[in-house]
Amino acid sequence: MKKVKLAVFASGTGSNFVTIAKEVAAGNLDCEISLLVCDKQDAKVLEKAKTFGVSTFVFNPKDYTGKAEFEQEILVKLQEFEIDWLILAGYMRLIGQTLLAAYPSRIVNIHPSLLPAFPGKDAIGQALAYGVKITGVTVHFVDEGMDTGQIIDQEQIRINDGEDRESLQRRIQEIEHRLFPEVIRNLCVKQYVR
Ligand code: GAR
Repeated sequence: MKKVKLAVFASGTGSNFVTIAKEVAAGNLDCEISLLVCDKQDAKVLEKAKTFGVSTFVFNPKDYTGKAEFEQEILVKLQEFEIDWLILAGYMRLIGQTLLAAYPSRIVNIHPSLLPAFPGKDAIGQALAYGVKITGVTVHFVDEGMDTGQIIDQEQIRINDGEDRESLQRRIQEIEHRLFPEVIRNLCVKQYVR
């Protein structure tokens, strides 16, 4: 049977990309990462994709008239690679109608807070600034909103007294690296029927 094909979308460091790629390489996730889509020429995730031999599509949004135009180009790539699911792992851009229409209920995102609290950029900084005692990680389906869309799974974490950003980020990422592959396994791989 044909393997489920994922495209990971990322803009930054790529620790979630690496975790998923390692799980695939270890045979713990019966799918393949066929493509990395990245909107930043100098993103660290690009070197990581090279290490794992994953093809990349890198684009600069400024080279296009708008979202519809670059998403159309992304879509051509996704179709070329016969991608089944889009996995947003630190892709810091809203998904537009072109991709939403092409992949209904097939786009998932991870976010470092207990949504609907602290959507958007710097969710960890927002949680610390607000002074909440509990925050966490959310994996959800993507819709046209900013970190909205139906929640698939969440895990909470207690913020320690006086905890700094670095420590909280490290602990949140530990959760992400466990939760995201688990969701991908249950949602994209196990329940996948072609
Ligand atoms: C992750 O913590 C992810 O939850 C967050 O970006 C980070 C990317 O880290 N995403 C968002 O904030 C989306 N709104 P990584 O590049 O090391 O995987």
